[in-house]
Amino acid sequence: MSKLQAPKGVSEYFPPRSQYFELVRETLIESARISGYQLIELPVFEDTELFKRGVGESTDVVSKEMYTFEDRGGRSITLRPEGTAGVMRSVIENNLDKLTLPVKVWYSGAFFRAERPQAGRYRQFYQVGIEAIGSNDPEVDFEVIAVADRAFKKLGLKSYRLDLTSLGDAASRASHRVDLINFISKLELDSATLERAVLNPLRLFDDKRPEIQEAMLNAPLLMDYLSAESKANFAKVQELLSAADIAYTINPRMVRGLDYYTGTAFEFVSEKLGAQSGIGGGGRYDGLMADLGGSDLSGIGFGLGVDRILLACEAEGIFDSTSNILRLDLFVIALSPGEKAFVTNLVNELRNKGISCDMAYGDRALKGAMKAADKSGAKFSVVIGADEIKSGNAALKDMKTGESKEVSISALSQEFIAN
Ligand code: HAM
Repeated sequence: MSKLQAPKGVSEYFPPRSQYFELVRETLIESARISGYQLIELPVFEDTELFKRGVGESTDVVSKEMYTFEDRGGRSITLRPEGTAGVMRSVIENNLDKLTLPVKVWYSGAFFRAERPQAGRYRQFYQVGIEAIGSNDPEVDFEVIAVADRAFKKLGLKSYRLDLTSLGDAASRASHRVDLINFISKLELDSATLERAVLNPLRLFDDKRPEIQEAMLNAPLLMDYLSAESKANFAKVQELLSAADIAYTINPRMVRGLDYYTGTAFEFVSEKLGAQSGIGGGGRYDGLMADLGGSDLSGIGFGLGVDRILLACEAEGIFDSTSNILRLDLFVIALSPGEKAFVTNLVNELRNKGISCDMAYGDRALKGAMKAADKSGAKFSVVIGADEIKSGNAALKDMKTGESKEVSISALSQEFIAN
């Protein structure tokens, strides 16, 4: 029988590395929480139509990368390639925009894109995202960027940069579009590229082929067409970022891979990763909610790539491979099978008091059990034999220093609560 394997190109996390994944994800979420964002938990599959209308047919994500299938009822279903469209669908469907604005939500979970797998690019990957819907304030643009930046700094990341642009409002884009289409019409393009350009001419800025990049060198830039209002908003965002010491680089050629963006758009890029260096990105989306049948509210958000942020942390040497992040307080060993029931009960009582502990299972000799204690990464260990049960005292060993001290078993929890 052939050996079962995970599908090609998916990321998965198991111990011991999973604890670093967990730490990264928690740090990203915590930064959203402390900024007033609340959880929104959404389905991982939606009607295909949502992504076609929400993300845009000119994008690679929709035209090439969706996991789409027919369900048993004959409906076309797609595994979510991103989170923003689903959030908008839910906000509209559940009337969340009738409550206080802006609606501020965070999400975390798996996303799916049928891309060619490579380091840092997976077919199932993980994002932590936030969306703030219903306010045009440039202060919200600042807040969203700051949530990501704060999390990166909290993790200890240093080698990353923030690329920033403004994709303007509808008026800015309309006047730019005329000149851009005029410029593109003079280029010699293959039919597929031309088709994409007709759907969204901005896509050509994103084309990675050197000949297209070169052809686009003299293309008119959206930044030069910003309306007075877009310009003022963008200036305010930059002013707020500078005041908060968040460094950024203006990149007028950045268009982002999804069609819904308007106004402020940004990408965080790690300088320690190879080709797949985008560790997060986002921006404002003025027309998305109305396009999906809701009221005409603007929103802004980001999606951060948990997989890539973990890789960036590792590349920067942030996690010492010998350190355990989620360290147990205590590991308890029964000297012989006779003390196992006592130890089981002791461990259970300690856990009831909130002390993290584990015990040795199986009939291992003391040496094997001590090895298990070592591997568990617990800060302390204690061996319980018949003598210890009789006297009520045992030696609590500090696993780092190797030193032991005599403690009362019934008061063992005090050692940890005091610590
Ligand atoms: P995105 O730029 O397509 O934006 O994805 C955000 C992040 O997800 C990327 O910067 C990257 O770190 C990660 N990512 C994307 N694809 C992959 C992949 N195949 N493998 C590993 N990581 C990946 C969005 O998804 C928007 N929904 C963000 C947003 C929210 N904009 C406004 N609100």
